[in-house]
Amino acid sequence: MKLKYKSIISINDFSKDDIVYILKQAYRMERHGNEPILQGKIMASLFFEPSTRTRLSFETAMLRLGGTIIGFAEGDSTSTKKGESLYDTIKMVSRYADVIVIRHPLEGAARLASESSSLPVINAGDGTNQHPTQTFLDLYSIFKTHPHLVKQKNRPLDIAFMGDLKYGRTVHSLLTALSFFNCRMWFVSHPTLTIPDSYLQILTKRNIEFYQVEAMEDVIRKVDVLYATRIQAERFPDPIEYEQVKDLYRLRRENLLNTREGFKIMHPLPRVTEIEAEIDKTEAAYYFEQAANGIPVRKALLYLVLKGGLRD
Ligand code: CP
Repeated sequence: MKLKYKSIISINDFSKDDIVYILKQAYRMERHGNEPILQGKIMASLFFEPSTRTRLSFETAMLRLGGTIIGFAEGDSTSTKKGESLYDTIKMVSRYADVIVIRHPLEGAARLASESSSLPVINAGDGTNQHPTQTFLDLYSIFKTHPHLVKQKNRPLDIAFMGDLKYGRTVHSLLTALSFFNCRMWFVSHPTLTIPDSYLQILTKRNIEFYQVEAMEDVIRKVDVLYATRIQAERFPDPIEYEQVKDLYRLRRENLLNTREGFKIMHPLPRVTEIEAEIDKTEAAYYFEQAANGIPVRKALLYLVLKGGLRD
């Protein structure tokens, strides 16, 4: 695939072959990726919403490859506070940098930014909509821990998604990408936080078997990966509704009894109460390694949009 000068806005813009290609580039970056191959390039890091992992791993990736960074970690420190539009902000930044990484609370903001700029724009999360680079690192983590996923003839990978499946953009993007592969999905949520129908329709169209349940105990011993998510307080229109569901799912050590060999817990992080700290030292805990996988994945994406394919 040709990603040079292209924007990365939605996982829906990528085919299965594109995804596999990007994950292979990330693997190369993990093995050989500390040469200054982006020297002279500037990344604008525009975070209108809070972030720890996405912003810092993008910035680390750029610095490790010899590039430099401009940007901000909160929109209130910019002229947005004085009423400047996103369109004007992007027009200006396009004259200062070579690539734009943007996180914004509004769905569609990254697409708008890409249409306002001649530079490649990378969506680092737009509201409840998409977080495609998180999806690439989630897939990379799943491939590393369960490589049979790419071998279609083996049994399907069983994956459960748990928590806020309504507002969780990482779940929406990941299930869409995973539906290209041989897998079976369980959705564990309170009835007010189920997966939007539009995503279930994608699964149906691609013949992916899926189940919707309310109790985590019903599925934890049937899956290879449990992808837990935070209940997203900031997305609830009614705070009382949040209070009613915020502590419904909490993984404890005793929940791990009799889980499958190689079972892993993943989480896009930050976690709040959904995974007890006592799980961190178990073999099942993979969420910190998963976050670290963001570095090779984001190195690969930055290189691909700025320079094109990697050498063998
Ligand atoms: N996973 C993720 O997007 O984390 P941050 O919000 O810390 O960037």
